[in-house]
Amino acid sequence: MRHFLKETDFTAAETAEVFVRAARMKSGRGTESPALARQSWGLLFFKKSTRTRVSFQVGVHELGGQPVMLNADDMQISRGETVADTARVLSRYLHGMVIRCHEHSLLEEFAASGSMPVVNALSDFLHPCQFLTDMFTLAERLAPGRPEAYLDSLRGRKVAFLGDTACNMANSFVLGGAALGLEVALAGPAGYEPGEQVRAQLKKDGLAPTFSFSVDPAAAVKGADMVYTDVWVSMGMEAEKAERLRTMQPYQVNQKLMSLAKPSAWFMHCLPAHPGEEVSADVLQGPRSIVFDQAENRLHVQKAVLAHLASSR
Ligand code: CP
Ligand code: NVA
Repeated sequence: MRHFLKETDFTAAETAEVFVRAARMKSGRGTESPALARQSWGLLFFKKSTRTRVSFQVGVHELGGQPVMLNADDMQISRGETVADTARVLSRYLHGMVIRCHEHSLLEEFAASGSMPVVNALSDFLHPCQFLTDMFTLAERLAPGRPEAYLDSLRGRKVAFLGDTACNMANSFVLGGAALGLEVALAGPAGYEPGEQVRAQLKKDGLAPTFSFSVDPAAAVKGADMVYTDVWVSMGMEAEKAERLRTMQPYQVNQKLMSLAKPSAWFMHCLPAHPGEEVSADVLQGPRSIVFDQAENRLHVQKAVLAHLASSR
């Protein structure tokens, strides 16, 4: 049984294959083969979502399957039914599961207890569907029209990640960046270094770290091929909002910072954005921003992930 809980659950060869399949799904939307025909996939959310929820729902439908939307609050799991029992029961009905949750361990327990593929739709630890999509979106620009070269086009590229360098997206860049051979330059306030969990995961996967951490945003952005940021207050961090907005101010991605990156550098953001906080409105809406390509590509890349998992059952 294959799962996609973290970036390193796919080998480099599989990632390359997913990119090619996603490009095919994108250009041939509406003519794709029904990889999930007669299947029902559960989409279980413990947290809010716009892009992930809709792109998975539409994606399962476009692959010939039926998405079953599940809000955790409406289920017995919110009244104390165990994760393991929930996974065992749902495995009797469904063919796969997409889950957005708080603790990453819930995904692991669900995958271990059930008997269907599980996809991480964001946990406090990682957001691998977003990372994979971001790499696909960047590669579209680096190797236009050559999906078979997408993976190779990323190797050795410098990515700057500014702001909350301890969040799930930053962790995904630390882990996924090491797997794909990117140079990941993180810049955020002192105390926001990548934590023990992601360092331990690198070790477990036998990957040498390819990230650096600095409190100097200019140093991180210098010579970057892509500048990335995420919200300063991730879901669940609301109590720290005032403190975060204050300490992360120097890491706002604005024109001045963008001018230190390569002239060809792209701006990326997983969205939702808060213009005026982590990114200035002119950069977000400017000519180097490819944030809506990222949002669109969630659909195509996730369809490729689902088809890949369904075919490797
Ligand atoms: N980027 C992302 O995952 O967006 P949503 O929270 O809207 O799903
Ligand atoms: N780091 C953000 C990502 C949202 C898509 C969060 O977890 O809220």
